[in-house]
Amino acid sequence: MAYILGIESSCDDTSAAVLKDDFLLSNFIASQDVHKKYGGVVPEWASRAHLRNIVPVVDVALRNAGIARKDLSAIAFTRGPGLLGSLLVGVSFAKAMGAALDIPIIEVNHLEGHVLSHFIRYEKSEQSVPEFPFLCLLVSGGHTQILRVNSPFDFLLIGSTIDDSAGETLDKAAKIMSLPYPGGPVIDKLAREGNAFEFSFSKPQIPEYNYSFSGLKTSFLYFLRDRLKEDSAFIEKHKANLAASLQKAVIDILMEKLIVAAKDTDIKQIAIAGGVSANSLLRTEILKGEQLYGWRTFIPPLSFTTDNAAMIAIAGYFKYRNGIFTSLDVAPYARS
Ligand code: KG4
Ligand code: ZN
Repeated sequence: MAYILGIESSCDDTSAAVLKDDFLLSNFIASQDVHKKYGGVVPEWASRAHLRNIVPVVDVALRNAGIARKDLSAIAFTRGPGLLGSLLVGVSFAKAMGAALDIPIIEVNHLEGHVLSHFIRYEKSEQSVPEFPFLCLLVSGGHTQILRVNSPFDFLLIGSTIDDSAGETLDKAAKIMSLPYPGGPVIDKLAREGNAFEFSFSKPQIPEYNYSFSGLKTSFLYFLRDRLKEDSAFIEKHKANLAASLQKAVIDILMEKLIVAAKDTDIKQIAIAGGVSANSLLRTEILKGEQLYGWRTFIPPLSFTTDNAAMIAIAGYFKYRNGIFTSLDVAPYARS
């Protein structure tokens, strides 16, 4: 039996979690409101906030888990990708705490964490987890990928965006509409009151299982620019329909390639992960795959979709079981 502390600090959330083997004991997240007024993450502010938050966040996670520092078996931390200054805080903290407690530290790739979040046990009852191999649509603020997951240590990238990510597209579109940051959840909420068939935007023609969102973003921007010339209140009047139509365009693009990838690989275990997997339309469309294509789908609880340390702890747990540890001279990396 092992107690694993997970630490996540790759972007603007400072998070710590404790697992008892694969069972979640606590998952605490301190979000940084400081970025809201800038409409995006300010890296320098993010690293300063991580510095302030990391000690109390880890304390709360341990307290909520009901264990003491000396009970810990290992510390898993996000090594990258992400903002270097932010990562540095979590990496340095993990190293110092690991050295002080004389326990192993375990590096985790942030994306690997998102995917493996499906293996966090959080209910006392039996919980179904994906079988290998499965396909995972990883959709976050930084990435949009289709992965063939062969084992906890073997991920094959079969498709990826060639420009913007799905989350970035929603965030940028929201910014154009003067909606608050992050825009993804705001668009999701607004879209519930809108008509998704009101407006249509350009669709990309990209080979294989790859994605592109820059054309959609530009088409949205030009569309609004033209309409605003005729009516300066256009956005305000059509907010919900714009959000619904844009969201539908993004989710249609995501689903189209995923459906083809599932068919071509003949894999019917389909998972989604990352911040955009919180999106209600995406969750509905994925679920439809069970009826339409015989998929077995894995949709994470909302608390494991956006950045959290529980996903880092579970990825660390797999490595711990296999004796895969990291040396104390490890440095963070910004890109995978
Ligand atoms: O995984 P994540 O927390 O951070 C990264 O690793 O990037 O993802 C953040 C992204 C943001 O772009 C945010 O707008 C998006 O996830 N997001 C959503 C929703 N909740 C978060 N997008 C659409 N619908 C949501 N409900
Ligand atoms: Zn993430």
